[in-house]
Amino acid sequence: MQPACPPLEWSLHKTTASGHAGCTSCATPACVRPPPRNSFGLSTVRMHTSPTPPLDPASIFLGPKAENADVFEALLLEAFRDHVFWRRNFHPEDGFSVHDAERRAPGFERSVSVLREHLMELLGELKGGVPFFSPRYVGHMNADLTMASLIGYFATMLYNPNNVAAEASPVTTRMELEVGADLARMLGYPADRQWSHLTSGGTVANFEALWLARNVRYLPLALHWAAKALGRSVSVQRARGDNVDTQQLGLWDLLNVPPAAALDAMDRLVSQQEDPRRVLEVLSQCSLTGLGFQEFGRRVTSEFGDSLAAGVVLVPATAHYSFNKLCGALGMGSGQLVHVPVDSKFRMSTDALWKTLVRLEEQKQPVIACVSVIGSTEESAVDHLDQVVALRLRAQRELGMSFWLHADAAWGGYATALLRGSDGRRRTLDDVRSSCAPEDWPEAPVYQALCAIGDTDSVTIDPHKLGYVPYPSGAICFRDVRVRSLISAEAPYVFTNDARDVPDLGRFILEGSKPGAAAAAAWMSHRVVPLDADGHGRLVAESIRGARRLHRILDAQDWSPFRAVVMPRPDLNIVCVAFGHPGITSLEANNAFMERVHNALSSSGGKPARALDHVVSRTTLRAVEYGDAALPHVRALGFSDQDYHRAGGLTVLRCTVMNPMAWQPRGRVDVLSAFAQTLRTALADGLRAAAGTALPQKA
Ligand SMILES: Cc1ncc(COP(=O)(O)O)c(C=O)c1O
Repeated sequence: MQPACPPLEWSLHKTTASGHAGCTSCATPACVRPPPRNSFGLSTVRMHTSPTPPLDPASIFLGPKAENADVFEALLLEAFRDHVFWRRNFHPEDGFSVHDAERRAPGFERSVSVLREHLMELLGELKGGVPFFSPRYVGHMNADLTMASLIGYFATMLYNPNNVAAEASPVTTRMELEVGADLARMLGYPADRQWSHLTSGGTVANFEALWLARNVRYLPLALHWAAKALGRSVSVQRARGDNVDTQQLGLWDLLNVPPAAALDAMDRLVSQQEDPRRVLEVLSQCSLTGLGFQEFGRRVTSEFGDSLAAGVVLVPATAHYSFNKLCGALGMGSGQLVHVPVDSKFRMSTDALWKTLVRLEEQKQPVIACVSVIGSTEESAVDHLDQVVALRLRAQRELGMSFWLHADAAWGGYATALLRGSDGRRRTLDDVRSSCAPEDWPEAPVYQALCAIGDTDSVTIDPHKLGYVPYPSGAICFRDVRVRSLISAEAPYVFTNDARDVPDLGRFILEGSKPGAAAAAAWMSHRVVPLDADGHGRLVAESIRGARRLHRILDAQDWSPFRAVVMPRPDLNIVCVAFGHPGITSLEANNAFMERVHNALSSSGGKPARALDHVVSRTTLRAVEYGDAALPHVRALGFSDQDYHRAGGLTVLRCTVMNPMAWQPRGRVDVLSAFAQTLRTALADGLRAAAGTALPQKA
């Protein structure tokens, strides 16, 4: 039998609902000692790292009818009571500050009534929210959340840790780094090199990726000037593979050093000096961040007699709208965002990408970054990332050109869980297919693209999307931790822990104060639902089953008198469909018709979301970004290419099938079939409303 822990100084604690508050070091039933920690400071008590028997998705969520309310309630109460014990055991000698007599005074009781009333008001107001938990919701990227993440969030929120600095979050900063490491491992980054952390969302994660990409791309120029200022020389590996002293290189070569080679050269320069801080200081003074674009450009012109051509960012036509904002915010200019055409499956065309690279090389315009999307926002399309990786090598070899490679896997990143067995081994295409059976998923190109994620420089992946954890929880993973030094900041009042093993996150990231509770939520969720084929892979596979089934239902129905144009079977789990009618004779009118149908199936029509039978979203495939990729669908609706360009785009309904329980009928209603029925009614109502409006005629 284990010895009992020494008694706490003064203990008001009681046993919890389940009779035990967490101590695993002794056998005393009421002991509230925290569980043992490993050298990283984290609890060594794991929930299920590899659950057997296999995880049942029904056990993961509260459930559409709160079927798991008993478990949820007991654990929330446990978390709250445990927090109470913690307060009472912190300097118990202080005694109580709020006295019983005071609690019975009229002023006190009034305050509590006000609190209660406002809570009731809030709870009432919240019913005006959106029922994301229901399988009837196939709107945006929302669904039920894991109980683990919600309970983890609630439990930690009571402690309010701030992950800006380890001093304010000794536990949750470590958890955040562990979540980052878990994600990086799942994506295939080297464990001893990666640098990953949480962000408020995918937008900020993409911002950080482009911010660091920009700094790494301009690093060789900074090294060139810093080495000169320090009276040193440093060589760098050019895109074509040879090593040359930076002083011997021209502007084009300096702007096309492969990212890893630029970081290696920085290491070499730093290691030449006795005082590495001094090198980093000079380097920072010569960097784009230190100088700003105007002064940086002026130096380039004065030294190379050539102005600094604007660097571009290449994204597929399907890229998230935030890239526009980001290029503007980073001073690169949103006009330098180049949309590469996509193919008929909405995947970035690698032929078009190659042609774009050749054209840019001829114009001597450097590429800061190329972004591949793994799960596009509108269609869940997965770019041919493996081919883009190969194309970068070809561009280095044949064009002397390199770039930063970023995967925006904000939506689809969790699908890589399907590539890993619970023993950590890479699963074959057949293994992955067996997880999704009887559906024929994934196609080989999707599998190959997912396998290539580890060959990128950075990846955005959002736990608050397909990770089923609450906001705010985006994540950015970098392949190489050295990038950190290109943005590190000093703030002596808050960052003081150089000697400790846990870094102060605020030094190395864009954001400052950030919720440790969000880190704990993701950490808990990943412990309960592991990042492998049996855990998160299972949830992704079930959601894909749902999407495929919905695709079949939409495709097989006789919609007459309407014409349904169902977009290609999705790479992941978002299904898009457009409807037309012979009486609607212009694409503008058809787009307006789709808007009306969407309004009937979303709260944007003015109806409260709780009163809706089903909820869907919509989008417009805009000609300016999608180019020809939308034309087959425009034609299938009976409109011409000219109609498309005149209307500016094609409006479609977008069904995000995220709920892992929607694919098979579970309750009394088969929600996916019922959705098709509701859609039929909305189409008929939308058409009647259209008949009452003067429709623009076909031009
Ligand atoms: C592919 C992709 N990237 C980035 C984002 C932005 O994520 P967030 O809304 O968390 O900032 C989204 C959001 O839908 C997305 O789908």
